[in-house]
Amino acid sequence: MKIIFWFPQTDASAWLHGLAHALPDAELREWQPGDTAPADYAVVWHPPRELFGVPGLRAIFNLGAGVDAILAHERERPGTLPGTAMLVRLEDSGMGRQMSEYVQHAVLRYLRRFDDYALAQAHREWHVLAPHPHETFTVGVLGLGVLGAQVAHAVASLGVPVRGFSRSAKTIEGIETFSGELHGPQFDAFLDGVKVLVNLLPATPDTEGVLNARTFSRLPRGAYVVNVARGTHLAEQDLLDALADGTLAAATLDVFREEPLPPDHPFWREPRITITPHSSALTLRDEAISQVADKIGALARGETVSGIVHVGRGY
Ligand code: NAP
Ligand code: GLV
Repeated sequence: MKIIFWFPQTDASAWLHGLAHALPDAELREWQPGDTAPADYAVVWHPPRELFGVPGLRAIFNLGAGVDAILAHERERPGTLPGTAMLVRLEDSGMGRQMSEYVQHAVLRYLRRFDDYALAQAHREWHVLAPHPHETFTVGVLGLGVLGAQVAHAVASLGVPVRGFSRSAKTIEGIETFSGELHGPQFDAFLDGVKVLVNLLPATPDTEGVLNARTFSRLPRGAYVVNVARGTHLAEQDLLDALADGTLAAATLDVFREEPLPPDHPFWREPRITITPHSSALTLRDEAISQVADKIGALARGETVSGIVHVGRGY
């Protein structure tokens, strides 16, 4: 079987070495623009449109959970994705644990007011602040998929109430679940009383801009937002306005509409915004190779695999 690989700004040789070890019978090559030789499988992150012209592709493995970059090509020019190829995304592969740690850290930081103490320290102020009560420090997780469900469990272990929102109805022990349309009545019921709103939705036309002024206005005054999904989920000016007028107390952002975040972006100057460089859950090479290799093996044996993206739905 022939496999092409594309992952810009990474050590491609280490990936190819790992894939060759996991799939000793495969013929592997790093794809380059202009390469139109046939291949059975593509293992890619942020591929250019041209790569999808490679003939013979049976499956495209996305080296991340979010497939928005690939589906943007398809949305821009329908028919870009070869009709015969399935698109398969990474499922957890070590990201759930990283994401859980990141969100637990953000929640604890706000619960114990480390953000306020950091601001006080900058002004050499010594004040003991009233702690937030656990019972009303409700965390709401938007998206209860592979990562959202794990994050919800991890946050619940901190002893705060946790609820989650998804498109389809779910039952998850210890988590209050809501489902339906974003901005519908169930969404408003979910937001009512959420002190920390954590976003783990995929980036789709339906979820674009979901973190906006209307959503923020439904939260209790002085709530917090943690966006670890995609920058396109956030209405940036709405966040700055909500922080300025006290609707929100602070935000932790890992993802941005433009990445790297431009040096003159107002978010850098807002002390109530904590910024990380799209690092909340990194693709781990060994875990990703093992998952992709297992799935290629299964497909080659004619078996089905999980993690197939529903292209029309967008995730
Ligand atoms: P997933 O398993 O596909 O879960 C997506 C969840 O969102 C599902 O619960 C789904 O509902 C829900 N959802 C989708 N559209 C919705 C809508 N319109 N209204 C309400 N709920 C909706 O995805 P995942 O693996 O957990 O990953 C989630 C996202 O995290 C990725 O798409 C990616 O953008 C982001 N991510 C970021 C990083 C980072 O480093 N910052 C790393 C990894 C992933 P149903 O369950 O009903 O389908
Ligand atoms: C990273 O952002 C991912 O989608 O895996």
